Amino acid sequence: MAKSSISNSVIRRLPRYYRFLKDLENNGYVRISSRELSEKMGLTASQIRQDFNCFGGFGQQGYGYKVSDLKEGIKKILGLDRLNPIILIGAGNLGCAIAAHIDFRSKGFELIGIFDADESKHGQEIGGLTIQDAAGIEKFCSENKPSAAVLCIPKTAAEKTVDRLINCGIKAFWNFTHYDLFMDHEGIAVENVHLGDSLTTLSYRINSGVNDRRI
Ligand code: NAI
Repeated sequence: MAKSSISNSVIRRLPRYYRFLKDLENNGYVRISSRELSEKMGLTASQIRQDFNCFGGFGQQGYGYKVSDLKEGIKKILGLDRLNPIILIGAGNLGCAIAAHIDFRSKGFELIGIFDADESKHGQEIGGLTIQDAAGIEKFCSENKPSAAVLCIPKTAAEKTVDRLINCGIKAFWNFTHYDLFMDHEGIAVENVHLGDSLTTLSYRINSGVNDRRI
């Protein structure tokens, strides 16, 4: 199946498959059937087979899946076999927490620069990187060619900053601002992240009594 025709919901499940398969491999599993994987993941076996068929299968009827091959296959599909250089804009509470605690390398990225507009933060260190003046983003990008950016700035600053970053060649945004980025620009990838939406979903689950853990 062409990558462009793979549904968003299948793509959303891939990181979870990858996480489960890494755990299985670490726990000594060599093979796993779709039924066993489905029980562990709270999905149906047919859902799992359908998902993997989107990428050409990975398994042999009756033999299940070889855990390491499946894990490596999904890793490749997710692009985790290479590192995309990424910069972080906004070294406030959230930006510092992300820079310090997210393992970018295991997620296919290398954090190469942190920028903030507040002069009092320049020169401070987080996660082994020094916070730089946001005025220097253009120069840094022309020299270091990051392909992605994490946005941890106030919503009011988001639109202008995104335009600036696109002009600098940034092609992907991990957007934490509450400015919903929907790109008109061809070839720009966006992941809007709203922790609050996840909490609101939990509220729905409590109130409705529906606790479907499938994604
Ligand atoms: P904060 O005020 O601690 O940090 C914002 C930082 O951005 C400050 O250091 C400020 O100097 C810097 N900044 C402002 N304008 C800038 C610009 N044009 N260029 C570079 N740096 C600039 O705020 P906090 O709590 O870290 O939140 C950051 C953003 O993340 C906010 O938009 C907030 O609403 C959002 N947020 C989103 C969450 C989510 O789940 N999506 C969760 C928490 C916060």
